[in-house]
Amino acid sequence: MGALRLGILGSGKGSNCRAILERIHDGAVAAEPRIIVSDMAGAGILAIADEFGVGSVYLPPGNFRTRLSPEAEMELVRMLRDAHVELVVLAGFMRVLKAPMLEAFPHRIINLHPSRLPKFPGLEAWKQALAAGEQVTGCTVHYVDAGVDSGEIIAQREVPVLPNDTPETLHARIQEQERQLYPEVIRRFAAERSAK
Ligand code: GAR
Repeated sequence: MGALRLGILGSGKGSNCRAILERIHDGAVAAEPRIIVSDMAGAGILAIADEFGVGSVYLPPGNFRTRLSPEAEMELVRMLRDAHVELVVLAGFMRVLKAPMLEAFPHRIINLHPSRLPKFPGLEAWKQALAAGEQVTGCTVHYVDAGVDSGEIIAQREVPVLPNDTPETLHARIQEQERQLYPEVIRRFAAERSAK
């Protein structure tokens, strides 16, 4: 049946994408990265794609700030379908997906979020946790639905908030856990698929 075919979407530096590609490269995750797409020209995640020899595309997002234009989203669907992607992996993709993607890949889009959902959905969740005086926060992998960070939870990890934490130190501690959790979830998806 072959490896689980992934499409990875990101807007930023791509450290989680790198962690996933490393685990695939070392044989721990039975997946095949088919295409990496970014809505940000020059994003770090596109350089990581090149480094690992994965095809990548910059997708101009259109004129909206928090989502893709309908045309761009249709183009994204087409690219992912052409690449025969089975699972869409959002790795720091900062736009909300709408009907074209949700209908093309039902229950087949997953996202990584830097809090223990349902607490602190939305932007800069580590800052929200700090401002709320939480002693524990974390990270979550969940299915993407029509809401913002509201889909069914797949896996979570806890991360302590320490007394002297700044947004930067807390975010870095969360990201350490993210870089373990996300490849592990994808490893499980791939293992379950090949067992079917
Ligand atoms: C990660 O911390 C991820 O949790 C967050 O963006 C970062 C991407 O880092 N995602 C969100 O906030 C999604 N709402 P990366 O580009 O180094 O992987």
